[in-house]
Amino acid sequence: MVAFVISGVQKMAETPVQVVILAAGQGKRMHSNLPKVLHPVAGKALAQHVIDTVRKLAVDKLVVIYGHGGEVVRSTLNSDDILWAKQEPQLGTGHAVAQGLPLISSEGQTLVLYGDVPLTKASTLKRLLRAGRDGLAVLTVNLANPHGYGRIVRDKAGKVERIVEEKDANPEEKHIQEVNTGIMAIPSTRLADWLGKLSNTNAQGEYYLTDIVALAVAEGVPVHTAQPDGEWEVLGVNSKVQLAELERAHQRNIADAMLLGGVRLADPARIDVRGELTYGRDVFIDVGCVFEGKVELADAVEVGPYCVLKNVNVGAGTRIAAFCHFEEAVIGPDGVLGPYARLRPGAELGPEVHIGNFVEVKKSKIGAQSKANHLAYIGDAEIGQRVNVGAGTITCNYDGANKHKTIIEDDVFIGSDTQLVAPVTVGRGATLGAGTTLTKNAPPDTLTVSRAKQISLAGWVRPVKAKK
Ligand code: UD1
Ligand code: CA
Repeated sequence: MVAFVISGVQKMAETPVQVVILAAGQGKRMHSNLPKVLHPVAGKALAQHVIDTVRKLAVDKLVVIYGHGGEVVRSTLNSDDILWAKQEPQLGTGHAVAQGLPLISSEGQTLVLYGDVPLTKASTLKRLLRAGRDGLAVLTVNLANPHGYGRIVRDKAGKVERIVEEKDANPEEKHIQEVNTGIMAIPSTRLADWLGKLSNTNAQGEYYLTDIVALAVAEGVPVHTAQPDGEWEVLGVNSKVQLAELERAHQRNIADAMLLGGVRLADPARIDVRGELTYGRDVFIDVGCVFEGKVELADAVEVGPYCVLKNVNVGAGTRIAAFCHFEEAVIGPDGVLGPYARLRPGAELGPEVHIGNFVEVKKSKIGAQSKANHLAYIGDAEIGQRVNVGAGTITCNYDGANKHKTIIEDDVFIGSDTQLVAPVTVGRGATLGAGTTLTKNAPPDTLTVSRAKQISLAGWVRPVKAKK
C-alpha cells in the first residue's frame, strides 16, 4: 500500500498541478459589506492577487471555493480558466476543499491556497510543489508570536507528526513557533480519501484540512515542509489593520525593487503603485505619488510631489511638478508640466510641450513646443506646433448637446481670456487678441479681435454710499 502510494506520487513530478483557492470565509472582522477576498491591496482584490500568481505556475485546473456574498466574488473575479464551487454552510477548511472534489481529478498535486493571503510568490509555491513531489508538503513559517495559528508538531527526530490548531493545543504545543500558513501541496490520489476521514470533534466543531497531515503520517506518506522567503508572503487579512499592514509591506517591496532597478525615490515609504509601473534610467519620483494602471516613465523623467498618474506614458526628460493629475494621457519627451496640471483621457502632448498650473486638457492633441501655461481648458482640440495658449483660454467644445472640435494650426498666438466657440479653426500663424470670443474661423497670419473699442469717459464719477 505504502509502496503503491509512493510510486504513484513520484509520477506526479511530470503531472500537472490543480489549485484550490479557499475564498468562502465571511471576514466578519472587516466590518464591511464587501466580501473579504475582494478588498484591495495595491488596487487589486486580495483573491485576484492569488489568481494572478497561480497563472504564473503551469496549472492544470483552478478551482475557487466561494460562499458568503459569493455571487459578487464570482462575478468580480470571473474568468474562463476558473472553476467555481460553492461552500454553504462553511464547516471548516477541510469541508471547503471537499466542495471542490467533483472538479478535481485524482492526478498530480493539489495546491491549496487562501484567497485572503495575497502576496505569496510563485517561486515559493514552486518550491513547495517540489518539496511535495513524493508526498504532502506544508508551507510553514517560524513566528515570534505564533498565537492563533495552527502549530507544526514534530517528533524527536524532527519529522512532522501533525498540525494542532491554537484552540486545541496544550500549553506545551502553544510554545511551538513553527506555524501552518495554510498553504499545502497534497497528492491528489489521496485527497478524497483523506477528506472523507476528517471529523469535526475538535474545539471549533469544524472539519480541519490540517488533520490530513496526521492521516498522511499514519499511511507512511512522507510529509515535508517548505518556507517562504519573507514572512509577508504568508500574511493573511482578517481586519482592516492587517489589510493596511499588508499594503505597506507590499508597497515597500515594490519601492525596494524600483530602487534596485535604478529609480531614485525621495522616500521609499511614501509611494503607492497600484498597477504596473515601468521606468527607464535616472527616473526620480518625489514623495506622495500614486501610480495606477499602466504607467510608463521613460529615461530621466522627474515626478514632483503628490502627483497621481493613471494609465499614462511619459516621454524621456519630461519634468512634472507637484500636484498634477494625469489620466489616460500620452506625454512626449522633454515636457514641462505642472504644478497643478490636469490631463484627462485622450490628452496627447508632443515633445517639449508646457502645460502649467490649472490647465485642463481633454481629448486633445498638442504639437511640439506648444505652451498653455496658466488657467486654460483645452477639450476636443487639435493644436499644432509652437502655439502659445494664453492664460484663461477656453475651448467652448460643448453646445449643451454635442461636442465640437477646435483646430489651432502651427505658430498661432492666442491672447489671454479667449473663448474659442467650436467648431472653429484658427489658421496658421494667426494671432487672437486678448478677450476674443471667436465664433468664426480666424484667417492665417492675421490679427483677429472681437472686443468692443475701449473708451474712457471724462467726468465720470464713482457712485458714493447713500447717507442714512
Ligand atoms: C487556518 C488553519 C491554521 C493556519 C491558519 C493560517 C485550519 C483548520 N487551520 O486557520 O492551521 O495556521 O489558517 O492562516 O485549516 N475558509 C473557507 N471555508 C471555511 C473555513 C475557511 O473557505 O469553512 C477559508 C477562509 O476564507 C480563509 C481560509 O479558508 O481564506 C482560512 O480560514 P480561517 O478561518 O481564517 O482559518 P484559521 O482558523 O485562521
Ligand atoms: Ca477559523
